[in-house]
Amino acid sequence: MAEETTYILVERADAVATVTINRPDKLNALNWALINELAGKLEALDRDDAIHCIVLTGAGDRAFAAGADIAEMSGASAAQMALGPFEGWDHIRRVRKPIIAAVEGYALGGGNELAMHADIIIASEKARFGQPEILLGIMAGAGGTQRLSRTLGKFRAMEILLTGDQFTAQQMEDWGVVNHVVPAGQALAEAQKLAAKIATRAPIAALLTKEAVLAAFETPLEAGLLHEKRLFAMLFSTDDQKEGMAAFIEKRQAHFTGK
Ligand code: COA
Repeated sequence: MAEETTYILVERADAVATVTINRPDKLNALNWALINELAGKLEALDRDDAIHCIVLTGAGDRAFAAGADIAEMSGASAAQMALGPFEGWDHIRRVRKPIIAAVEGYALGGGNELAMHADIIIASEKARFGQPEILLGIMAGAGGTQRLSRTLGKFRAMEILLTGDQFTAQQMEDWGVVNHVVPAGQALAEAQKLAAKIATRAPIAALLTKEAVLAAFETPLEAGLLHEKRLFAMLFSTDDQKEGMAAFIEKRQAHFTGK
């Protein structure tokens, strides 16, 4: 039996899992098998109670991911593109645990869109972001038009998507896509440090916080506020709420169990 290619590496350190796209010779270009494997591994980590926060990065210092695999896509039919790659992306966007993207090098096309599937983005000063699909005669297809316009507004999104240009990490930080720009070579370490901090926080509260923030993009304010209120009340049924408040009153560190 042929051995299955592994594109995705998973390392664990306490409650943080680091997921690495490992195809550096192709600048971590995202072929369909890779996206499906990534989706499967993220889903498994999402189900794993021992993991509280996930860091997503690309192998090597040249790319987070340089986009969908152009060689694979070049001969595809419309029907193949409609059915083939998107199921995996849908699974990735449904991951409930916090995901931090550590971007070193290129995050282009699907690479930028994948970074935007994360909840926080840490980028090296040498990182470059963009949606170059228009240079290939196509357009963004894994959420780029929607997430860029929701995050940056119409005019900046249009410039990125219509020019296909590359933008610096600093530019993306100024525009509100990147959380922090760090020195070259430090994106992964900084993302892991932040993930380790988030992993000490109450895990159910973190999941529900992510759910509520993402719901803000889907719902009118009134419905979003009601959703938040219900999630908030639900947390009063958890051990973590009792522990967190008791620890405050007793002036000690809280130890959350995710129960
Ligand atoms: N799909 C498939 N292969 C890709 C790729 C992609 N999106 N991006 C890079 N690669 C491959 C290259 O074909 C090359 O493979 P080879 O060594 O077998 O020839 C390898 O990765 C290295 O890339 P290369 O282009 O030689 O590096 P570079 O430093 O000259 O340029 C980029 C870097 C990122 C500017 C350039 O690779 C690029 O423009 N990539 C495509 C970006 C894109 O359009 N993404 C959106 C796709 S929808």
